Amino acid sequence: AAAATEMAPAARGEGGGKPFMDEMRAVAMRLHTKDQAREGEKEPQAPPVARWEPTVEGYLRFLVDSKLVFQTLEDIVDRAAVPWYAEFRNTGLERSEPLKKDLEWFTEQGHTIPEPSAAGTAYASYLEELSEKDPQAFICHFYNVYFAHTAGGRMIGKKVAEKILNKKELEFYKWEGTLSQLLQNVRTTLNQVASSWSREEKDHCLEETEKSFAYSGDLLRQIFT
Ligand code: HEM
Repeated sequence: AAAATEMAPAARGEGGGKPFMDEMRAVAMRLHTKDQAREGEKEPQAPPVARWEPTVEGYLRFLVDSKLVFQTLEDIVDRAAVPWYAEFRNTGLERSEPLKKDLEWFTEQGHTIPEPSAAGTAYASYLEELSEKDPQAFICHFYNVYFAHTAGGRMIGKKVAEKILNKKELEFYKWEGTLSQLLQNVRTTLNQVASSWSREEKDHCLEETEKSFAYSGDLLRQIFT
């Protein structure tokens, strides 16, 4: 609420309806299956997370690919080829360092860390391309990857840890500071940035959500296949 009162009228969504982040979230929630989230509208095609039978090898493939994707997002905002990407530096949501520590832990446990898979490298190069040619579409992925990980991603991590890691809590699921506050800060920045976009640019960003689900779905599926 404190953040909302500091926002410019356009960032709050005045004159253009609700804040853009509400639209982004609504589109993402509809793309969940009914068993994944209460607001999901799609019929499930795979078993629900509760019935996944994860393997350490599959989970490691997912973690390695996730590290590549987060590292790519973090490098893109650090480089800021589009100047306003710099607004998304040091949000506190960054995940490549915690994932590096987790992979070191798996190495100590005697596991071999695989190279990124085709799914991981395909997503990373798609993000690189979008970040230069299509900032609105890039931001859609930025939002979905970070926010999905704090919601469903965390739930999945807990289930997997219970089943195959003796409840070991990975760094991937730990944030410095209060997660809800970090998320709220990023929502505020996203609303501010999007307040200067045209309706067409906003719609273009929203329309990219399906691709975000497709790429992230490919990564997640590795956990149980
Ligand atoms: C939020 C589950 C995959 C994007 C959520 C929520 C749940 C959930 C339970 C919270 C709903 C609430 O606030 O009431 C899952 C499960 C998944 C999955 C079980 C897969 C097995 C994905 C994927 C994406 C995604 C692939 C996109 C790449 C989001 C976003 C939110 C969300 C953007 C909103 C977060 C927020 O507003 O803070 N998900 N999800 N999810 N999910 Fe997923």
